Amino acid sequence: MTSRATGLNIIHMDEARMVEALDDLNPAPRLLMGPGPINADPRVLRAMNAQLLGQFDPQFRAYMRQTSELLRAVFQTANRATLVVDGTARSAIEAALVSLIEPGDRVLVPVFGRFGHLIAEIAQRCGAEIRTIETEWGSVFPAEVLEEAIRKHQPKLVAVCHGDTSTTMAQPLADLGRVCRAHDALLYVDATATLGGMDLPADAWQLDVVSAGLQKCLAGPSGAAPLTLNARAEERIVRRRHTEQGLRTSDAVDGDGPPIRSNYFDLAMILDYWSDKALNHHTEATSMLYATRECARILVKEGLASAFARHARASNAVTAGLQAMGLALFGDQRHKMANVTGVLVPAGVNAEKLRRALLTHFGIEIGTSFGPLQGKVWRIGAMGYNARPDAVLATLAALEAVLAGEGFKLPRGAAVDAALAVYSESAG
Ligand SMILES: Cc1ncc(COP(=O)(O)O)c(C=O)c1O
Repeated sequence: MTSRATGLNIIHMDEARMVEALDDLNPAPRLLMGPGPINADPRVLRAMNAQLLGQFDPQFRAYMRQTSELLRAVFQTANRATLVVDGTARSAIEAALVSLIEPGDRVLVPVFGRFGHLIAEIAQRCGAEIRTIETEWGSVFPAEVLEEAIRKHQPKLVAVCHGDTSTTMAQPLADLGRVCRAHDALLYVDATATLGGMDLPADAWQLDVVSAGLQKCLAGPSGAAPLTLNARAEERIVRRRHTEQGLRTSDAVDGDGPPIRSNYFDLAMILDYWSDKALNHHTEATSMLYATRECARILVKEGLASAFARHARASNAVTAGLQAMGLALFGDQRHKMANVTGVLVPAGVNAEKLRRALLTHFGIEIGTSFGPLQGKVWRIGAMGYNARPDAVLATLAALEAVLAGEGFKLPRGAAVDAALAVYSESAG
């Protein structure tokens, strides 16, 4: 049968759905003020519009080298092995863990939210002998507790999240690298949600491996995962190099360690692909490489210190606004992430209904939370491209209106005034 509406043969298709699927792609304007993804910087979207190049084109290889160089500045490292894993942020988590963990290795994972559990789960799939320590959601670990756990378990690897967006808490990490070195453990950090928004100097803090994603403070879309490894981590991985049969040249030298149990996430092969050897591996996600380069370029051009201050200001404005509305913040505020704020859903307000109203009436998205916090906590992000006064003020004004619409008693106008006061104080 041929459809009258589309002129297509639609034997296996639902006509109404096909008519809809043939519409132009035209996403509604939204202000994404949740825990990520957030709106991409328009310059990043423009960079992604550039025509494709072959992955071994000299110009493209130069873009890869420039991306590494810019990312070194973002990670605050001199690590040679600074590259991009093609995939969302968890692709770099998996690449790091599957490449570092040999089956049977003891791995310590401090868990203070959903993403600690994710790290533990991935490490378990890599065959690790897992040890976890847990603290209540909304808190972080005191340095002594981490040190004691390392002393007790003597892990080969400690794998920890920096900012766990599920609880909006950031684990202090300035001393952990030193402690790990003293106990001969490697340290992996998931900085997906904080890189570019909070200080995390990889070299100064002796972080052996750090990975991230673009969709938070780096102001890009999800789909590329920056990663840096220092020489200690690289050595452990290169020991496990087993180059794919079809790519081997006569001078290929394998390591004496066990093969990495993933081909796609084999960092030994990905390092060879990014190095001057340019050994083929996957087909580079060209547009995502352009996006990563642009995210890093924008951040480096702004200056890390200025970006951290911008996120801290936005965080102070959000928290001042929420408190002025009479809302209570979630978690230990001394350890709050700079870029995401957790706020308790007030009694009598339906968390999901309010989020829907914000989206429907104002085109603004804020986040719910997971596990024990679902329906109890909203998460408001002000990060990357959206760590701007206008985005913060619009969100507070809209939230006030929908909360009032739900019958929540609040002093009208106070939230925006409080946020404006934060911005004018920090300008003065
Ligand atoms: C701290 C943290 N780690 C890991 C992830 C997973 O990232 P992705 O969904 O890009 O794979 C997220 C995503 O929100 C995150 O916030």
